[in-house]
Amino acid sequence: MAVLGIPLSPKVGSSAIFVIKLPEPKHSGEVSVEEAIKSRRSVRNFTNEPITIEELSQLLWAAQGITGKSRGRAAPSAGATYPLELYAVVEKVSGLDPGIYHYLPKENALECLMNGNISRALSAGALNQPSVRDAAVNLVFSAVYERTTGRYGDRGIRYVHIDVGHASGNVYLQCQSLGLGTVAVGAFDDENIKEALKLSKEETALYIMPVGHF
Ligand SMILES: Cc1cc2nc3c(=O)[nH]c(=O)nc-3n(C[C@H](O)[C@H](O)[C@H](O)COP(=O)(O)O)c2cc1C
Repeated sequence: MAVLGIPLSPKVGSSAIFVIKLPEPKHSGEVSVEEAIKSRRSVRNFTNEPITIEELSQLLWAAQGITGKSRGRAAPSAGATYPLELYAVVEKVSGLDPGIYHYLPKENALECLMNGNISRALSAGALNQPSVRDAAVNLVFSAVYERTTGRYGDRGIRYVHIDVGHASGNVYLQCQSLGLGTVAVGAFDDENIKEALKLSKEETALYIMPVGHF
């Protein structure tokens, strides 16, 4: 794992502490798409076992990774406007200190925005849901609506919500393939989550996906 001294293309307005290159994601697996769809269930109770940085990399790639030759991504996006930003709130990931990391799809890297154990604060903002408190990592999707409404007007709001559904569906299926559990969490206080993650004013938190062994 390479720790890069200079942020590659950090979040606008962010003060990244450092940037970590992620392991390359795999493009094949043991579980068929049909098996993953058939066996997928939301999981809310997790063990203490950490996940690996390879598994985290795989999940981030499934959600928002670059898959095309130019800038195509794993999940579709209305007009390729890509309104979503993705964060990993790390609690128990081998090879990564706890903290808030922002995914850089183009670089397949994470920029560390803050060190520390944030999951309890995140859970407090999400109606104290134990799944968020106990996860090895919480993936948090936010959206910059303007990227999509700038092109499509008010209809872009609908498109952003559809975008996040596509991305989170990929996370569910990738978890299934890795033998990990997740649940899509939409019940949270917007302002609390925005504050816990120190999101920019253009960003709105949309979805939390706690991930872990079960
Ligand atoms: C938009 C949305 C919001 C959800 N929010 C929560 C939530 O806040 N907490 C939770 O435990 N589950 C949440 N869920 C998960 C649903 O409860 C779950 O998908 C449903 O019970 C069906 O179970 P299954 O996913 O195992 O098929 C949410 C699901 C969706 C699609």
